This record gives sequence, C-alpha cells and structure tokens, in this order.
Amino acid sequence: MTETFQITREQAQTYDDQFVPALFAQWAPQLVDCARVRPGQSVLDVACGTGVVAKAARAVVGSAGRVVGADLNPAMLEVARDARPDLEWAQGDAEDLPFADAEFDVALCQSGLFFFADPGRAVAEMARVVAPGGLVGLQTYASLAEQPAYGPFVDLIARHTGPEARALLGTYWSHGDLDDLLRLTSAAGLSLVESRSSLGVAVFPTAGAVADTEIQATPLADRITPETHALIVADTEKLLGQYADESGRVQVPIRATLVAARKQ
Ligand SMILES: C[S@@+](CC[C@H](N)C(=O)[O-])C[C@H]1O[C@@H](n2cnc3c(N)ncnc32)[C@H](O)[C@@H]1O
Repeated sequence: MTETFQITREQAQTYDDQFVPALFAQWAPQLVDCARVRPGQSVLDVACGTGVVAKAARAVVGSAGRVVGADLNPAMLEVARDARPDLEWAQGDAEDLPFADAEFDVALCQSGLFFFADPGRAVAEMARVVAPGGLVGLQTYASLAEQPAYGPFVDLIARHTGPEARALLGTYWSHGDLDDLLRLTSAAGLSLVESRSSLGVAVFPTAGAVADTEIQATPLADRITPETHALIVADTEKLLGQYADESGRVQVPIRATLVAARKQ
C-alpha cells in the first residue's frame, strides 16, 4: 500500500477547484475514449481523487451504466460525493481493491500509478476486477526526456539545488515510459488495444507560480534558502515566459501517455 496519503477536506477542495481544471480534466475524456467505454457499461475509476474520470465515464455510460470511484483518501471522496451523490464512491487501496473478480467492464486509472508502492500489483488488481474481454485504461505522464517544458525546468532546479532535485521532482515522470507501462499490462495478462501520446497543457497564473507550486509540493521547500528560491523563480520566468499570454498566465506543455489493454 502507498504510504499514508492523507489530505484535509480543504486541500481536496483546492485540488478539485484548481488542479483539476488546470491539469487533470483534459485527460479524463481521452482516457474514457481510449478505453472504449460504451453506454450501459460498469466502470471503476481507481485512485479517483475528486472523480474527474468517474464523471467523464458517467457521461458516456449513462444512467443504465454503473460508475464507481475508489480512492485511499477520505477527503477526496467527500468532495467527490458532495458534488456527485448519484455516483458510487468507495474507500479502497488500488493495490487491494475492495471489489469482486470480474465486477466491472472497464477499470481506469488516471495520474495514480506513480503514487503506488507497487504499480504492477495495482494493474493486476485492475485486471482482476474486470470481466474477460473487459478493458483496463491507464494514464500517466511521459518521462522527463519527452517533456518539452518540464524537462528543461527540472534541469534548471537541479542547477540551483543539486542533482537530488531530479529525484524529488521526479515522481510524476517515473512511469511514463511506454515500454515500462506495457510490461505492467502484459504481466497482468492484458493485451494492448491502443497507446496514445497526448500533448496537453498545465495552466498556471504566472510562470513563477510553476516554480512555487513544484517547490512547495516537495521537501525542496525546506532545503533551499529564500535567495535560492527567488533565483529559481526568476529563471523559471525566463524559461517558461514563452508560454505566457498577455495577462502573464502560462500554458505549459505537458505530455501524457495513455494505454488501453484487454483482459483475455
Ligand atoms: C494526482 S491524484 C489523481 C486523482 C484523479 N485520478 C484525477 O485524475 O484527478 C492521485 C490520487 O491517488 C490517490 N492514491 C494514492 N495512493 C493510492 C492508493 N494506494 N490507492 C488508492 N488511491 C491512491 C490519492 O489519494 C489521490 O486522490
């Protein structure tokens, strides 16, 4: 199981209000489409957070279908349940899903794999809970080498703070290699239906906010001086200024990898 990943209700609401529209919402319909979700199907959204994928699945399966969102974090589920009491929400670990074998037609997981202690086990669990012929759909972010903006940005931070920054800022990019993903799906007995490499954007109010957000979200926040922080922000403004509009808002390109694979 993943180390405790507890956040408050207020943090979960901020996640839903700010981070979902700024980054996560764009991939949800793509993942649902990639996994060939159809009207009337039953769909599980693993590590659902506040349920952006569950909601996108519901729009396709309709009222004849069933949609369940599962997450470890009760605060995420509370926000999800308050917004959409018409869907099912369940507390559960992706590595030990509280569902029967073959209970769903499709199991999806968006931006979750890199948090799991054993992603292979989570994919095997998703394969277990889908019926034979059912699909498993995964979304994650491409590796840093394939990221047009985040690659140079992490290089910039490493120049100011040392090489360990790569590990600290590396979580999101740690399962982006398509071959690695396909090893996970085939180890779970799934055969590839489709893979997609999709370039999207992460939206921030300013280029400097990209640096602030990334630093605050990691232990780097406690390891660097205010002077270093200010230098990183200034360099980030230079690096990512090319993605700013007239108001200063930046749309930073970010590449995601999506995979759909079928259980035999
Ligand atoms: C970046 S959020 C993504 C949420 C959602 N899929 C989305 O696209 O907005 C990662 C989620 O994974 C959940 N999570 C982390 N480890 C988990 C685990 N072992 N089992 C279930 N959920 C987990 C967190 O609580 C969090 O809601």
